[in-house]
Amino acid sequence: MIKVLGSAFLLSTNNTSYAMRVLPTGQLEHLYYGQRIEADKEEDLLVLSEKHAFPLGNQIAYDEESSYSLENMRLEYSGYGKGDFREPLVELVFPDHTSTTDFLFDYATYNKEKKPLHTLPSSHGECDHLYIRLKERNHDVDLILDYYIYEEDVITRTTKIINHMKEDLIVERAMSLCLDFEDDQFEFITFNGGWADEMHKHIHNLSSAKIVNASCMGTSSSRAQNFVMLSRFAKEDEGEVYGFNLIYSGNHKEVVEVSSTHKTRIVTGINNEQFSYCLKSEEVFEAPEAIMGYSYAGFNGLSNIFHRFVNEHIIKKEWAYKERPILINSWEAMYFNVNEKRILSLAKEASEMGIELFVLDDGWFKGRADDTRGLGDWEVDRKKLPKGLDHLSRKIHKMGIKFGIWVEPEMTNENSDYYREHPDWVIKIDGQMQSLGRHQYVIDLSKDEVVDDMISRMTALFSSCQIDYVKWDMNRVMSDVFSTCRKGEVFHHYICGLYRMMDTLTSRFPHILFEGCASGGNRFDLGILSYFPQIWASDNTDSWCRFDIQNSYSYGYPQSTFTNHVSGVPNHQTLRVTPLAARFHVAAFGLLGYEVNLLDLSKKEKEDIKQQIIIYKKQRALFQFGNMYRVDMGWMVVDEKRSRAVGMLFKPINELSKKTVVFKCKGLDPLKRYHFYNQKMTFDIKEMGSLINTASPIHIKQGSLSHRVISKFVHLQGEEEDHYASGSLLMNAGVFLKQGFSATGFNEDVRFDPDFFSRLYFIEESAL
Ligand code: DGJ
Repeated sequence: MIKVLGSAFLLSTNNTSYAMRVLPTGQLEHLYYGQRIEADKEEDLLVLSEKHAFPLGNQIAYDEESSYSLENMRLEYSGYGKGDFREPLVELVFPDHTSTTDFLFDYATYNKEKKPLHTLPSSHGECDHLYIRLKERNHDVDLILDYYIYEEDVITRTTKIINHMKEDLIVERAMSLCLDFEDDQFEFITFNGGWADEMHKHIHNLSSAKIVNASCMGTSSSRAQNFVMLSRFAKEDEGEVYGFNLIYSGNHKEVVEVSSTHKTRIVTGINNEQFSYCLKSEEVFEAPEAIMGYSYAGFNGLSNIFHRFVNEHIIKKEWAYKERPILINSWEAMYFNVNEKRILSLAKEASEMGIELFVLDDGWFKGRADDTRGLGDWEVDRKKLPKGLDHLSRKIHKMGIKFGIWVEPEMTNENSDYYREHPDWVIKIDGQMQSLGRHQYVIDLSKDEVVDDMISRMTALFSSCQIDYVKWDMNRVMSDVFSTCRKGEVFHHYICGLYRMMDTLTSRFPHILFEGCASGGNRFDLGILSYFPQIWASDNTDSWCRFDIQNSYSYGYPQSTFTNHVSGVPNHQTLRVTPLAARFHVAAFGLLGYEVNLLDLSKKEKEDIKQQIIIYKKQRALFQFGNMYRVDMGWMVVDEKRSRAVGMLFKPINELSKKTVVFKCKGLDPLKRYHFYNQKMTFDIKEMGSLINTASPIHIKQGSLSHRVISKFVHLQGEEEDHYASGSLLMNAGVFLKQGFSATGFNEDVRFDPDFFSRLYFIEESAL
């Protein structure tokens, strides 16, 4: 809802409000963002404006009549040169070589239109729209601020710069969002990491120094995730949290700065380092759309808001809430060593176990014996697959499962026909030694003809056989960046070219489920999610690491956007051995897949996986689209009616002194009654070692033939939890689980809880 009250604007969602006004001097003063407020008169909102009778000490007075010092105001935008020394939103160089900007209010209107951006992806769906035009005081340049108000407690902003001058305008910085707070009582939360080590949550205390979270590697990157939060020392379920994200997949920057008067500013947008854009007469520069959300129900509250927003307003309509198949991926099962026989045997085994999609990962195309060659040549390798992809895809479909394929359309190896034909179609500096990543070049998507050509190659490939799914990988970041376009524009043109390619291909092949990937989560952002509904979250599938990685993604992204695989042990990245159950329990919260040679597994492991698949299929809607909550040592997913839920407990380390474990639910209806029970599990007696003799009537020698034979036929029965209670009890007090094992024997009243203990709990509304 939008209210225009004289010179003030009040934007309200279901539970939040955002207010601003035009200052007598023409700038836009930010008045408020937080819990919903009501106001019907301009005077009401003026209560929220800063009261300044004089500038402080050596602050700059904006003009002689007013008493404003821009440095000490909360502003909706800000530039260089008029006394605001904080991180600016815009930085321009005018033809007269000046760079002071002073954008003043000119015009505002509002409607219900959500206009797409022309060069970048943007949110979609029903919302209110406030359009504000500002004009630069001394040059014919407009700054357009669009605010989109989604009733589900999200407000988005876009910023556009329009050059009405005859001469070129140099845009050195065009950020998307600036939000000023009156105080500095916040923690700034960022998610940083690296390959197979994504999404470490960092909590930064604010001080007068700037905190910068940024990427300059050409991708949004695992080094600095675009999604950040400002929290007023909130907890998971209480306290105020502001969340911010950017619909952009390239270099980005989020800066938090506390001013000399203890005001906090956050700025988000394209990273201005390595950025400089020449805007010709009458051209428009579009900054990426920025997202803000606010919750006073803690981090879980904010997550629920962002989850809904991403599913409803970012993911393409045809894929939002569409259940995704359980897949088997060939990568860790075969790496580059794929051939028809191996593929078909794995696919057959997978289909018999209930898996629904076979994904042929890297290694299938011409000359791809290892990662030094072949990228760019998107034709099947006839030595590995003599009868071609069409034949293979048909055979796999005949097994009753779908077929998917891996591509890396943004890359080429020097050792490829593509590179030999088009050595000038890659990002590099001619005549200099190039530093490569994974032996490959990034192809130059800042050039239209390169994008058009790759669209044709991918169109030919996707039409050549029965493809239901595509994994779109991107395995290096950018170095030695140079192209024929203006320095400072390459990174941004690359991203625009990438979006054009993704847009064309996803529209041309609407039935194909696309999954983004960049060596795992090196490009996990809302730009990619605007085209591809899901992303491979990390190459790290070790359940211990993975729990943290998924937990962190869940702060800003719904679990339906991240794919998780159950892989083999020892884990290929960490060499850690964790139980199959834990690998499944963690992977199930989101989109489930397997990435292991199923043919090599034991009978018990195969039986367990079959059971996992049955459980996942039964609860798929909840695992993929339920409202997700972070609980103590685990997660819960709850359906919209709050009548069904699944909880998961994960305890990586067995601590003797912490044997009393209580599972406290979240998200249930306090007034409803529920049946709470666990997934019944069985364990291989070998997991007990010689302790099995405390429960066995006969002595079993470790490693003996009888040990092996008994372990095939006799399994330990896990504990049983079976309770009825009210939602209020399950949430406020929780279920005291059976006691953990401790050298005293083992029976159904004891929880078998070695390291990496995990359990699923099912919670269903009940009349009992
Ligand atoms: C990196 C991806 O993250 C892996 O899953 C796999 O697809 C490899 N690339 C293949 O080269």
